[in-house]
Formats: sequence, C-alpha cells, structure tokens
Amino acid sequence: EKITIAIDGFSSTGKSTIAKRLATALNYIYVDTGAMYRAVTLFALNEALINEKGELDAEALIEKLPSLELKFVPTGELGRSEMYLNGENVEREIRSMKVSGQVSTVASLKEVREKLVQMQQQMGKDKGIVMDGRDIGTVVFPDAELKLFMTASPETRAARRYKELLEKGEEVSYDEVLFNVQERDRIDSTRTISPLTRAKDAIEFDNSDMGIEEQFERIYEFAKR
Ligand code: C5P
Repeated sequence: EKITIAIDGFSSTGKSTIAKRLATALNYIYVDTGAMYRAVTLFALNEALINEKGELDAEALIEKLPSLELKFVPTGELGRSEMYLNGENVEREIRSMKVSGQVSTVASLKEVREKLVQMQQQMGKDKGIVMDGRDIGTVVFPDAELKLFMTASPETRAARRYKELLEKGEEVSYDEVLFNVQERDRIDSTRTISPLTRAKDAIEFDNSDMGIEEQFERIYEFAKR
C-alpha cells in the first residue's frame, strides 16, 4: 500500500537527501518544493522585479505569475529530475546564493504559494510520493500518512550548505551561508501565510550528529510500518 510522505523542516537540514533516498528505496516519486519557490525567485530576478536593494515588486510578480511555467523533467537517472522554468533548465541557477538571498521573500506571497501548492497537490494526488518543503505536512498534505520534521543546529546546517556550494564552485564565505540559513529560517517561520512549523503529528528528527545512513535506516522503518 503506497503512502504520502511529507518532510518539512528548517533550511539545509538534509531533507532532500533523505527524501531522495526514501523515494528511490520505495520506488516513489520525489518532489523538491523548494526548487519551485527558487524557480519563481529566479523568474523575478530575470524579469528585474527585484532591485539592487533586494526590494521585490510583488504586484508585478503576481501579475506575471500566469506566464510562468514550471516543470520537473526526469533526468533518466532513477528518481532524479531537474527544474525547468519556461522551457529552460534552471537546476543549477536556482541553487545560487543570489536566489537563496531572495527566495524567502518571494515565498511569503500568498499568490505564489497558492499557485505552487495547487501544483504540488496535483503532483501528489496519487499516493507513492515523497515531498519535501516547509508546509507539506501542515498545508499541502495535512493527511499524509508519514510526516517528518527535520532539525539540526544552525552550524551543522551552514557547514553542509557551505560544502555543497563550494563543490559547485560558488564563491561564498561560511559566514554568508550561516547568515542566509538563519535569515531564511526567520522569515519562513514568521511569515503570515503558512509559516514553517511542525505539524502536530510530525515526527521530529534532529540529525546534527547523525550520518545519512543511520538517518535513512531509521526513517525507512517508519515508512514501512
Ligand atoms: O528547500 P529549500 O531550502 O530549497 O527552499 C528554499 C526556500 O523556499 C525556503 O527557505 C522557503 O522560503 C521556501 N519554501 C517554502 N515552502 C516550501 C518549500 C520552500 O516557503 N514548501
């Protein structure tokens, strides 16, 4: 019997690593909802709707939302897909610090969330899906059979994200990454629409001191129950 698995939590808590492993092991679909908010943010940047001061022209973005097409395209590699924005592969660009610095502002807009949540519910209408994000267990799939809420210390998380960015050749400092991770958590948890919060029935998972294999083993047990 296939189920719906919702994985939420703060930035860089290893949600997507666990979600991908679960999806592969269970032969489920994996959806990275952060990629969708990131793609909308890239769109806003490309359309010059965010000025040098980082101020977003929310009204203009909302007006242009209908012309924005998002798609996950499978890479052919098991369980892997890449984000396309209006027909263009943006998988790499959406992970940049430039996007990370603005995404939480864009994700605070009600109209943006409505559009993306609707797409996410459509993608998960058949069970057998692992979705990660900030509001999956609370808003997108409140009836998900398994909900996880991932946490880890800010330093652990910043170190992980910093390593990833360095590997991608991005020029950033650890302090910048730490600031960004904490700033996104602050905005994500305090916005008025769908703030980041643990669903009452979500299992909390602190993986500060846990390797990926150990995490996966534990969570896989929950998924099989
Ligand atoms: O998961 P990731 O770190 O890529 O998400 C980037 C940002 O997108 C988050 O910091 C948050 O502002 C937003 N987001 C959201 N709701 C989701 C997924 C992501 O608001 N379900």
